[in-house]
Formats: sequence, structure tokens, C-alpha cells
Amino acid sequence: MKKFLTCALKWMDDRFPLTSTWKAHLSEYYAPKNFNFWYYFGSLALLVLVMQIVTGIFLTMHYKPDAELAFYSVETTIMRDVWGGSFIRYLHSTGASMFFIVVYLHMFRGLLYGSHRNPRELIWLFGVGIFLCLMGEAFFGYLLPWGQMSYWGAQVIVNLFGTIPFIGPDVAEWLRGDYLISDATLNRFFAFHVIALPLVLLGLVAAHVLALHEVGSNNPDGIEIKKHKDPNTGIPLDGIPFHPYYTVKDIVGVVVFLMVFAAVVFFAPQMGGYFLEANNFAPANPMQTPQHIAPVWYFTPYYSILRAVPPIGVSQFPGVVAMGASVMIFAALPWLDRSPVKSIRYRGGIYKLWLAGFVVCILVLGYLGTEPSNFLGQFDKEGLFSGADRATVLARVLTVVYFLFFLLMPWYTKMDKTKPVPERVTG
Ligand code: HEM
Repeated sequence: MKKFLTCALKWMDDRFPLTSTWKAHLSEYYAPKNFNFWYYFGSLALLVLVMQIVTGIFLTMHYKPDAELAFYSVETTIMRDVWGGSFIRYLHSTGASMFFIVVYLHMFRGLLYGSHRNPRELIWLFGVGIFLCLMGEAFFGYLLPWGQMSYWGAQVIVNLFGTIPFIGPDVAEWLRGDYLISDATLNRFFAFHVIALPLVLLGLVAAHVLALHEVGSNNPDGIEIKKHKDPNTGIPLDGIPFHPYYTVKDIVGVVVFLMVFAAVVFFAPQMGGYFLEANNFAPANPMQTPQHIAPVWYFTPYYSILRAVPPIGVSQFPGVVAMGASVMIFAALPWLDRSPVKSIRYRGGIYKLWLAGFVVCILVLGYLGTEPSNFLGQFDKEGLFSGADRATVLARVLTVVYFLFFLLMPWYTKMDKTKPVPERVTG
């Protein structure tokens, strides 16, 4: 048997780089030996990606992308009639929120340890591409159940494109494929959600990991382990093979994560309206606007920024620009950070303070974004913006701090008092 397997492997290797790929990316990929808890989130993001694709395939088997049938195909067929349907649906809807939790923590790890810095700028840029794609994926997917929130959420977001000067209304119509959100919109969103964006996402994730394996992983000390190699073997002295060491370690993360995931799926799939909104259990009704339209939690910080920026007359375009910039600005991070050290362990108090402030900003903006729109000021009868209450003022201040975190970064990271970085990783 062993001889047969050896022969089969040789036959394969003569035709396909199986063993060499296994070695290059797993058994002989040397990762720093001091990875900590924050390094779980990359592999967890991969896990959630696979789970979303698999559960998505099963949902597609009974989902009907038709404005007449979509709501009932989800709420009746999948949730009540198909065996295991509600389980698969909750796995997918919970998976969407979990994806964002994992990716936000994964990005935050980058900010902690300077993983976006030279030579890992491209890994970061692929990451930002993934993040944009993920947002698109979540937005398109949210229309599919054709509930009230699906319909009106899509209405709000597509209308934002309508605010672009001159070409806006045409762009919005082109996106909808109709004069209002309709069956044509549902069909194209379905096409984007189930095939176009997942393909792009998979391609970007492959590029992300390939770029990472080209330069090697960063670590909590922010030190390049490739600088100290064994003169005989060429292996980094502070590196250990990814397999079996980190494959086994990652299993610990996977088990804990799946326990939390299962607890949500089985006991609180709606998560108090944060993962699935109550209004979306009513079918879409173009004649009845819900009292309060709010996006799902992972979009609310950006939504808050959109609403915090005062319109010009009745045009919300300035808010739309600010919202777009608040996401795109992440791409500039590798070039804004001028600190001589990478890891937060060796940075001074100024960066720590800014980073803490940035996190607080996002959390509070996120909360404000879940509140009704009149909470943050509103248009009066003449169409003018009024009611800059305390929450609006707060959202505006936080929006300014959010952008200052990025825009002032070249200065405060340079003037920050750093600690000496050790030659070798500290464990
Ligand atoms: C589907 C989403 C994503 C997947 C599957 C993914 C996967 C991974 C994996 C497996 C790693 C190596 C393990 C680790 O360092 O944790 C990694 C590293 C990294 N990722 Fe991601 N990632 C995703 C999204 C993102 C995003 C949105 C960003 C940033 C905008 C990002 C930035 C990085 C960086 C900078 C590294 C290198 C970290 C280091 O070496 O310290 N990733 N990613």
C-alpha cells in the first residue's frame, strides 16, 4: 500500500506541483514562533469564507430570485418546509455578521503590529480590496430575502449614487435596471451575490495569501525574522514550520470560534435585531416606507458619517463623499504611518492614544448609526437640514476625529517617542 501511495504521489508530482506547493505554503513555510491570539483571525476568515460559500450553495437550491416569490422562498420554503433549511439560513445570516467581526479584528491586528508596513503594503491593499468586496457582497445579499429592510435599505443606498452631480440619477437608474427597486434589481443583485463577487473575493484572497507567503508573516514584535537565518540551512532562527505547529494551534481558535458561532445560531440567530432585523420578516412593500431604516451593524459607523456631514441645500453628496472616503482611506495607511517601529509594543503613548481614540470613535459612530435618522437631525418641510441636536454634534466631532486619525498620522507617528526594538523576537 505504502509503495502504491509513493508511486501515485510521484506520478502526481511529475505532472502537478503538489508536494512542492505543500512544502512552500505549509510544511516549509516558516512563520515567526511568537504568534499570539490575534493571529487566529486570518485562518478564521478563511473558515467563514468557506462556510458562507457552502451554505450559500445550499440556500441557492431553494431560493427564487423573483420579486413575487423571493420572500416566500426564504420565509416559507427555506425556513419552514425544507429539512434543515432554517439551520442553513441561520448559518449563512450569522456567518455574514461573524465575517465582519473576524475581519475587523484581523484589520485591528494590522494596526497593532504594523502588519500593513513595508514590505507588506500589497498584502494590506489586497485586504482593502477584500474588505470592499465583502461590503458589496453583504449589501447585495441583503436585498435577496426581499423583506421591508432589504427593499428600503437598497433604496437608500442606490439613491446615494443618485446624489452624484450631473450623472447621479442616470447612474442610480443603471444600477437598479429600472426606475425603482424592482424584479430587475433583484435579479442583478442575485447574480452579483452568488457568482460575480464571490469569484473576485476568492481571487483576492488567493492573491492576499500568496503575497503574504512571498514576504513572510509579521509578528507581535514587528521584527523581520528573515534577518537572522541559520547559516547552514537558511531557515529563520525565530521561525517554525506552519504545519504542524500553526495548523494545530489554529484548530484551537476554530473550536472556540465554532462554539461562539453555534451559540448564536442555536440560541440567538437574530441577535436582538443586530444580525437579522425584525422589519425584514415583513415582505417588501414599495408603498410603505418603514419608520426607521438602518443598515446592519457592520455598516453603521459609515452610515453615521454619511448622516453627520451636512448636506448642501438638499444634496447629500458631501456625506456620500465622506462615507466613501472613510472606507477608502484605509488603503493609504501603509504610507501614512511613518513610525520607525512597527509593533505597538515599541511605540510611544501618542500612537496608543490615537488608536484607542479611533476604536472608541468607530464604536460610538456605530451606535449612533443604529439610531433613527431624526436622532441625527433631519430635513424640515422646506427640505432644509435642521435639528442639529447633541447626537448630531457628537457624530460630527467623531467623524472629524476619525479622519484626523489618518490625516495626522504622518506627524504623530514620527514625533512619538519609541522604545528600542530587540534584534530577535521576544516570545
Ligand atoms: C476574506 C477575508 C480575509 C481572509 C480570508 C484573510 C486571510 C489572511 C490569512 C490566512 C492571513 C495569514 C494569517 C494571519 O496573519 O492572521 C492574513 C494575513 C494578513 N491579512 Fe488578511 N484576510 C482577509 C482580509 C483582510 C483584510 C480586510 C485586511 C486589511 C485591510 C487584511 C490584512 C492582512 C495583513 C496585513 C496580513 C499580514 C499579517 C501579518 O503578517 O502580521 N486581511 N490574512
